[in-house]
Amino acid sequence: DWTMGAYREQAIDAIREQVGDKQVICGLSGGVDSSVAAVLIHEAIGDQLTCVFVDHGLLRKDEAEEVVKMFRDNYKIKLIYADEKELFLGALDGQSDPETKRKIIGGLFIDVFQKYANEIEGAEFLAQGTLYPDVIESVSFSGGPSVTIKSHHNVGGLPEKMGLKLVEPLRELFKDEVRALGRELGLPASFIGRHPFPGPGLAIRCPGEITRAKLEILREADAVYIDQIRKHGLYDEIWQAFVAILPVRTVGVMGDGRTYDFACALRAVTSVDGMTADYYPFTHEFLGETATRIINEVQGINRVTYDITSKPPGTIEWE
Ligand code: XMP
Repeated sequence: DWTMGAYREQAIDAIREQVGDKQVICGLSGGVDSSVAAVLIHEAIGDQLTCVFVDHGLLRKDEAEEVVKMFRDNYKIKLIYADEKELFLGALDGQSDPETKRKIIGGLFIDVFQKYANEIEGAEFLAQGTLYPDVIESVSFSGGPSVTIKSHHNVGGLPEKMGLKLVEPLRELFKDEVRALGRELGLPASFIGRHPFPGPGLAIRCPGEITRAKLEILREADAVYIDQIRKHGLYDEIWQAFVAILPVRTVGVMGDGRTYDFACALRAVTSVDGMTADYYPFTHEFLGETATRIINEVQGINRVTYDITSKPPGTIEWE
């Protein structure tokens, strides 16, 4: 007779017992796992928890504001908003190689997180939204052959480096159970059902050089695309959907003038775990309407394409 309500109570007792009266730091990404972990831990130990949310300047439209509003204003969780946009975008300036971009972001992320974490006095624990599949994966793959297609950025190794002990209240749960726990904790449905968003953010949706102007255009186009998907009731059928801005400008006509603006690609896939994926079969009507909306509403884009590559041979992200 096992329910999420019972799990919640049990997890809260376990967190209290583990942490005692010490301070806990939690890196908040805005994703489901770290959010559920933070809310659960906050319920257990209140102000002994401080969350750190790093804004690397590669977030989607209004994303930073939404996270701050939800956790600081709504849940009253102590939250450090680390505005490091200039640092990250400065370091990425002129870089166009995908792996170099990832390494810069991953490295800075750890530095920044450590800097803010060091300011929290008496912190002895680091909270992470590790799930059961993450636990199994790291065991079964250890020592085995590994092929790195893309270096994923995470904060692995950070707890040892900082001398912190781990608090991982979701270690026994699968993704669907984390979502159920999130609902049990009162997180809004729109938040719990969100598509995954990669750590390097918009950087890997902006092939080639990253500029502030391109990021701004990308944010606007992505917001229109997601709005279209929601309005057509397709959001929950899709594993991930986003826009990539292409490093090429093309000629177009608008009104009685010539345009010379960026092209973009729409991406939408279905998937069970992100390891393989199929492109989503939108109707031509949906695609046409979306292209028209993006070109009309987003200044800087005059051509829209749809990416019909499945994984493999493609990857979900563009870099
Ligand atoms: P790919 O592009 O490899 O993506 O097919 C598979 C899934 O992983 C996400 N992804 C990342 N997530 N850091 C992350 O936290 C990363 O560096 C990263 N790269 C890809 C991607 O969004 C998709 O869900």
